[in-house]
Amino acid sequence: MSNVHVVNHPLVQHKLTLMRRKDASTNSFRRLLNELSSLMAYEVTRDVAMQDIEIETPLETMTAKVIDGKKLVFVSILRAGNGILEGMLNVVPGARVGHIGLYRDPKTLTAVEYYFKMPQDMPSRDVVIVDPMLATGNSAIAAVERLKEMNPKSIKFVCLLTCPEGVAALQKAHPDVPIYTAAIDRELNDHGYILPGLGDAGDRIFGTQ
Ligand code: URA
Repeated sequence: MSNVHVVNHPLVQHKLTLMRRKDASTNSFRRLLNELSSLMAYEVTRDVAMQDIEIETPLETMTAKVIDGKKLVFVSILRAGNGILEGMLNVVPGARVGHIGLYRDPKTLTAVEYYFKMPQDMPSRDVVIVDPMLATGNSAIAAVERLKEMNPKSIKFVCLLTCPEGVAALQKAHPDVPIYTAAIDRELNDHGYILPGLGDAGDRIFGTQ
């Protein structure tokens, strides 16, 4: 699987295991997702462009490196993507945020768009799409397709969990988009859920089950 980055840092794996447990409360699920997302942000921004600026320390002037956070756009696939967004913004508070509303048609499992709002000047920006679960891949594929119409400098996809079917589908449709995930689980079931997985990410984040 080329272009797939499994973030297997012990802290990430530990938090993911705690989140998977069915007895994890909404409160702890959300907190763990927040912490884990900050760690994922660390990985996904590893190759972000830096620039030199001149600063003054208490002792002298120096040239030091900074990133231009404003050039990054985190795009949340509603609603579960918002659970990742917060943790990523803890690490890159200057990033811009876009939202794309897609719901899964329960019969066909295809993605239907109901909302789309992005920052101005997308051709100068690097996009990171976030959604906790890359399952059938339909939402991810639709989101990438829609964002490619806006011609950003680059697109990456970050999820918490995926499965071989989801990776294959997204890579087939968009081989140029790197995938960052904390784990690739065994399989997708007939209802489009990842096994063993963690259940419905949106319901677990928002306590709506
Ligand atoms: N979406 C979820 O929330 N969970 C899955 O297992 C698959 C898709």
